[in-house]
Amino acid sequence: MADDDIVLEGIDIHKSFQTGAGTLDVLTGINLGIKKGEIVCVVGASGVGKSTLLHILGALDRPTRGKVKLDSTDVFALSDKKLAHFRNKTVGFVFQFHHLLPEFSALENVMLPRLIAGGDVVSIRKKAEELLAEVGLSGRIQHQPGELSGGEQQRVAVARAFINEPLIVIADEPSGNLDKATGEELHNLIVELNRKKGQTFVIATHNQLLAELGHRIIEITEGKAVPYIVRK
Ligand SMILES: Nc1ncnc2c1ncn2[C@@H]1O[C@H](COP(=O)(O)OP(=O)(O)O)[C@@H](O)[C@H]1O
Ligand SMILES: [Mg+2]
Repeated sequence: MADDDIVLEGIDIHKSFQTGAGTLDVLTGINLGIKKGEIVCVVGASGVGKSTLLHILGALDRPTRGKVKLDSTDVFALSDKKLAHFRNKTVGFVFQFHHLLPEFSALENVMLPRLIAGGDVVSIRKKAEELLAEVGLSGRIQHQPGELSGGEQQRVAVARAFINEPLIVIADEPSGNLDKATGEELHNLIVELNRKKGQTFVIATHNQLLAELGHRIIEITEGKAVPYIVRK
């Protein structure tokens, strides 16, 4: 694996939480590298630390020890302000629950991260409309989240994750709240966006079907990432 292919690198990531019952060591030395254009699925039992790892890889939460390099930038060496700006430009997120803003339309929700990054409203609107068309929602752009089905809400969340043309999209149980058929539609959309745009994804899932769509599966057990299981 040539180093310059790696867009996201986790180096000796540790994460502990202080709880009433003492220190909980969740991640105890995770090392991984994600290459451009890969779909990597992170699996493991409930409570093993998948979300914790994804939050750290996406620079939403700091590790207790270790580093994350995104596009060769040591993200946790940045000030909080620079980190927030860097994250907005570099990482797109899709969560189990869509986290769309209820009082805004689908179109506005998709535009928002790009408006925050700065730019011309007319072109941002055009880009958001294009993305909503790509996820099959041309006819729903003025709908508010409450007027959309669960699957449609997740498609809006995917379009929003793409608006800043992020280096990497991090998805935490993206189909965890969808029925089987709707979940499969979302999985197909992820694969299609990966093929068409070369979009890199890191996806935590306990959905076996989704895990198998990835190029690689990484399993977390006892705080460590087991050696990559090469799927394809
Ligand atoms: N902020 C927190 N404070 C204390 N414990 C936490 C916190 N966040 C997560 N945990 C604990 O860390 C473990 C891993 O959680 P999580 O990453 O959400 O697991 P997964 O996504 O694999 O189900 C769990 O035991 C959870 O209770
Ligand atoms: Mg989780």
